[in-house]
Amino acid sequence: MRSLSTLDELRKTRFSLDGTVGLVPTMGFLHDGHLSLIRRARDECDHVIVSIFVNPTQFGPKEDLAKYPRDLERDLRLIEPLTDLVWTPSAEIMYPTGYQTWVEVEAVARPLEGAMRPGHFKGVTTVVAKLFNAVQPHKAYFGQKDAQQVAVIRQMVRDLNFPIEIVVCPTTREPDGLAMSSRNVYLDAEQRQAATVLFRSLSAAKELFEAGERDAEKLRGKMKEVLASEPLTEPQYVSCADYDTLEELTEIKGKALLSMAVFIGKTRLIDNFVLG
Ligand code: PAJ
Repeated sequence: MRSLSTLDELRKTRFSLDGTVGLVPTMGFLHDGHLSLIRRARDECDHVIVSIFVNPTQFGPKEDLAKYPRDLERDLRLIEPLTDLVWTPSAEIMYPTGYQTWVEVEAVARPLEGAMRPGHFKGVTTVVAKLFNAVQPHKAYFGQKDAQQVAVIRQMVRDLNFPIEIVVCPTTREPDGLAMSSRNVYLDAEQRQAATVLFRSLSAAKELFEAGERDAEKLRGKMKEVLASEPLTEPQYVSCADYDTLEELTEIKGKALLSMAVFIGKTRLIDNFVLG
């Protein structure tokens, strides 16, 4: 496996590759969710490049950039059996002094995560556009876990004519339903137990939907009710929105996205289910 850091090294290596290239962008501290994306890319592409970069511009001033978990050695050990190339650019490479160019998606980046984390998606789309330009992959792999991120990146790819196929992979979960996340390491034992409430709440709303309920407010109400049964949680938003536009629904007619952000102590967790 080759671990590349400079842009020059990456470019030389990238253009020596024959066949299709898949990119899996990550911020490291890898878990089975990330590895499922890398495996899928390996199955579908001749070469897979994994990028590891904790992107400072997608963290708000009060968020966890400084303490975001990092363990590059462990990450490289986990990736080694799965792929041939890892790119670990520095912040100086991605944002050199005097940096002033941004990629910003409008409407679909506004609600939900966009409303709670101002500037977050501007950081995500800017860094992903830079990764796409540097790597020039045929396909790029993202997790359904971050449903709005997928919607925003798809919009960016359409609007900026990137010749890249976006592949969305299902959310990998712990046996008790908790969506895998690098941030789960922040939870103590009691909080970790409480964190299953996100999955339970989404499952309860999905059950209502499957029994024929199409009133979006009833599904939001069910999710809030289950979340309220867990005293350690503080919900930030609970949503039943149109799958494509992410606008809140009154009545579910087509594909919908159930999603939520919940604080457990200081840890902010997100999760979602797709309906229909
Ligand atoms: P990160 O949180 O490291 O996630 C990297 C990729 O793994 C994302 O596409 C994310 O949706 C996916 N992922 C995370 N947890 C998952 C799970 N439990 N199941 C399936 N996929 C999962 O998302 C980012 O980094 C950044 O915003 C990035 C796109 C790299 C831009 O900086």
